[in-house]
Amino acid sequence: IDEKRKTLYRINEKAARFFRHFLETSPEAERARAYLKERGLSGETAKTFLLGYAPEGGGILASHLRLSGVELPLAEEAGVVIHREDGSFYDRFRGRLIFPIRDVSGRVVAFGGRILAEGEPKYLNSPETPVYHKSRILYGFYESRTYIRQKDSGFLVEGYFDLLTLWDRGIRNVVASCGTALTREHVKLLRRLSRNWYLVFDADPAGERAAVKALGLFFQENLFPKVVFLPSGEDPDSLVRNFGPEAFFREVERAKEALPFLLEYLLREYGTSPQGKSAVVKELREILSGIPDPVVRYEYFRLSAERLGLPVPLLLSESR
Ligand code: CTP
Ligand code: MN
Ligand code: MN
Ligand code: MN
Ligand code: MN
Repeated sequence: IDEKRKTLYRINEKAARFFRHFLETSPEAERARAYLKERGLSGETAKTFLLGYAPEGGGILASHLRLSGVELPLAEEAGVVIHREDGSFYDRFRGRLIFPIRDVSGRVVAFGGRILAEGEPKYLNSPETPVYHKSRILYGFYESRTYIRQKDSGFLVEGYFDLLTLWDRGIRNVVASCGTALTREHVKLLRRLSRNWYLVFDADPAGERAAVKALGLFFQENLFPKVVFLPSGEDPDSLVRNFGPEAFFREVERAKEALPFLLEYLLREYGTSPQGKSAVVKELREILSGIPDPVVRYEYFRLSAERLGLPVPLLLSESR
């Protein structure tokens, strides 16, 4: 069993090196190099994160792996190739910019791939494998953890480029969830590094929703992150690329405490009518009841009751 995992690590490592080499040297990858330049990433950052390019061909990685002695069914288990009806294998990632994903010890366990032109899906990711459990892996965790410890604070962002652009401009205490739903295991990993977190999600409805969901999970781990609001339509990548790190830190200065953010969000979502408030209370109760410390929990309920103009016991008791 451990032999199997070792093999899968080795295949992922080989694939990462192949993609990297292809990005650096192949004429076909010129448009990927141009794309990276356009998005403002330095070669240094691209190297630190092992960024690569997957060729269009269809079976180029597959034949490279086979020639270097890899059994393709194992490469399929590693998530980098897929088999056809006729038993042949083709590359999962084709014509995409490649983001290798590392586990907490720095081993490459999966990949994300971004399409270079318009098209769907914008990002493609490795499937779950014996070495890649999405619920336990965060993009950038391995690279950023020492910086998060040093600063005793961290930023949680949504996307690959959000992390990379921040890193590139010297903001290195950052990790990204990258399309996977945040889990309690993720939050436990984050808590080991620092108790002081900022959620910096995209300024769009999906980002706000994700922030609310994330808060519930952080609360369960007795963490109370602040929520950073970006100007409408921006994400951390676009903000920093267009307006510099100063603009980012200005928004961080204005970050909202978790509870006021939640209340404001829920009241906006459901409204202040009797039925609206009832819905607010229901969702709030679910989120707050996960707080392990009873005093903190009670205080959050009390402050919420105050804000909603309702008596505390009404918030605490289940409705029928
Ligand atoms: N994502 C994904 N699959 C998609 C779209 C998004 O896995 N089809 C993940 C990616 O990790 C992406 C993150 O969700 O980085 C955030 O999504 P989004 O904000 O839509 O993408 P950006 O990171 O902003 O992408 P870009 O700046 O490259 O356009
Ligand atoms: Mn799993
Ligand atoms: Mn988004
Ligand atoms: Mn973006
Ligand atoms: Mn985004």
